[in-house]
Amino acid sequence: MPSQLESLRQHSLVVADSGDIDAVARWKPQDATTNPSLLLAASQDPRYRHLLDADADRMFVNFGREILKHVAGRVSTEVDARLSFDTEASVAKARRFISLYERNNISRERVLIKLASTWEGIRAAGQLEREGIHCNMTLLFSFAQAVACADAGVTLISPFVGRIYDWYKAARKVDDLPIEEDPGVASVVRIYNYYKRHGCKTQVMGASFRKTGQILALAGCDLLTIAPDLLEKLSHAEGSVEKVLSAEKAKNMNIQKLHLDEKAFRWEHNEDAMATEKLAEGIRKFDADARKLEKLVAGALAAPAVPQPG
Ligand code: E4P
Repeated sequence: MPSQLESLRQHSLVVADSGDIDAVARWKPQDATTNPSLLLAASQDPRYRHLLDADADRMFVNFGREILKHVAGRVSTEVDARLSFDTEASVAKARRFISLYERNNISRERVLIKLASTWEGIRAAGQLEREGIHCNMTLLFSFAQAVACADAGVTLISPFVGRIYDWYKAARKVDDLPIEEDPGVASVVRIYNYYKRHGCKTQVMGASFRKTGQILALAGCDLLTIAPDLLEKLSHAEGSVEKVLSAEKAKNMNIQKLHLDEKAFRWEHNEDAMATEKLAEGIRKFDADARKLEKLVAGALAAPAVPQPG
């Protein structure tokens, strides 16, 4: 009997959601994703001290380069959350990341630039894609964000499941939501079907999971980025995973095509209280963690290195 992880790999490309390089090496995923919070955790690990750099861009690329030694595909490197409402600065930051990677002989095809799915972030991604720099749109909670990302021709979106689930659990004052009623899972299903129905080239990568049931309910999604603890659980659970999402089925669905200009995007996104709050909170949290990371790195680089065993 295969493990659920082996079985899931038949339906979706499995990606590791971690800044922990050893964990990425262990799971041998196709791609890997990082974010400022994951890199904050990894940067406190003495095994990765040699990757720390006072220049945050250079440090993010250091982690990305190490991760790429263990994945055949791409690594995602995230643009500073402080630039979430600044298209030009986001484009400049992404170009700097790519030039740092290319100076180290890593082609842009192996990198996804992660940007917050604000209107400004989506415009930056559209510009970058025209330059051959591929983007992964993060902090994606609303259908409007997904529609705008596809219209901008971005390579990939990361709709968040767990943070939507967290919001509805808190709003409904319950400890859990069954998978069939999970609004985070429903959000990815809706986006996936819309994209496939209308031939959108943008790939869908479900992200931010709280339990394996949410992952299994999205089997068939183009990609799924999964944290090491959940990869571990899936690898220990036996069973064959059924494909839930199917491009063929979606093609026959009656789903209306939407086009959102800036005003309509802002209106539609604002209509969704969960998405509005979660996007704002997500930007604040990534920013807070990036600032903590800067302080931590400054402190660590000022202190003498502790020799590592072995
Ligand atoms: C990955 O791209 C996301 O940054 C990640 O899945 C977010 O997960 P979290 O909601 O557990 O922080």
